[in-house]
Amino acid sequence: MVLVTGGTGLVGSHLLLKLTMDNTEVRAIYRTAEKLEQVKRIFSYYSPNANTLFNKIDWVKGDILDIPSLELAFQKVTHVYHCAAYISFNPSDFNLLERINREGTANIVNMCIAIGVKKLCHVSTIGTIGRTITDEKATEETEWSRQHTNPYAITKYLAEMEVWRGSQEQLEVVIINPGVILGPGFWESGSGTFFKTASKGYPFYPPGGSGFVTIADVTNSMVSLMNSNISRERFIIVAKNLTYKEILSNIASKMGKKLPSKELKMWQLQLGKFGDQIRNLATGKARTITNSTIYGLKHPSKFDNSKIKKALKFEFEPIDEAIKLSTKLFIEELP
Ligand SMILES: NC(=O)c1ccc[n+]([C@@H]2O[C@H](COP(=O)([O-])OP(=O)(O)OC[C@H]3O[C@@H](n4cnc5c(N)ncnc54)[C@H](OP(=O)(O)O)[C@@H]3O)[C@@H](O)[C@H]2O)c1
Repeated sequence: MVLVTGGTGLVGSHLLLKLTMDNTEVRAIYRTAEKLEQVKRIFSYYSPNANTLFNKIDWVKGDILDIPSLELAFQKVTHVYHCAAYISFNPSDFNLLERINREGTANIVNMCIAIGVKKLCHVSTIGTIGRTITDEKATEETEWSRQHTNPYAITKYLAEMEVWRGSQEQLEVVIINPGVILGPGFWESGSGTFFKTASKGYPFYPPGGSGFVTIADVTNSMVSLMNSNISRERFIIVAKNLTYKEILSNIASKMGKKLPSKELKMWQLQLGKFGDQIRNLATGKARTITNSTIYGLKHPSKFDNSKIKKALKFEFEPIDEAIKLSTKLFIEELP
């Protein structure tokens, strides 16, 4: 039996779709019933048999911070995909990020060891890959530092440390470090915000860029790594390094919107940060522009994807088709 955590999220729901299509016996953890409808909606994007596929999943109500619920979820489990995490760049969310990302991962690792799970595939992020000083691409070996890093990346780094601890205790593990994942349905978070921004036709774009990858490449690499003999390794999962201007322009052109043409200046970002702080104090809304965000925009990283290509003979798909599909679904859902 395969267990998926975070099955109601972008990565988890697409992974569940792939596993059910492959007829893998799968169990998934969910926290609230309403999120299950979201999974059905994701399945319906890809299959006319969405309900049949959804009904193949053994759903268990649980929380990665609640050990008794994990004990139930882990019964007869042999392989675990750990996709659950909390994503926020708001410094005041640090304690919650630390609990869900580090402590939650420690609980998953401890359960895997206690039950004798054969292999754990942990989903991390490029945020835990070090920065290069020059223009050269960062690799899995580039040294990471806490400096100028956002609270999310710090807690994901601590989560990876828990996974490496598990591997020291003889657990077979593999870690993936994906870039920004392009996939449909989660329009308020992650790459979904690029679609929302592009749809508004704003003339501005932020400086810098990041590594991008399609959701299909993420789930395909996870399953291939799980089914391989590879263990105790981590892999950058990035198809392409793009500037924010390039990605926003690509989406905007597919939406028939005006392409962004004016780069946001550093003083405008600093002003935005100030406004963001005031909004946070006045309304309690999460901060989105912080010192680490601005540092990241000023010092963008590029990522080397050759390790996964070599290890699995993995070919990344072009991101254009994935952007087309997400754009189509975005327009249908949020006309
Ligand atoms: N999206 C990206 O661009 C991206 C890029 C790189 C890496 N990642 C990594 O990929 C993984 C999946 O991200 P995602 O984009 O799928 O995130 P997401 O859409 O926000 O989904 C997060 C999932 O984690 C679950 N979760 C959160 N706290 C939990 C808890 N205490 N107990 C049990 N489940 C909990 C959520 O459940 P609810 O539905 O109940 O909230 C949801 O299923 C994460 O590890 C993330 O760090 C994502």
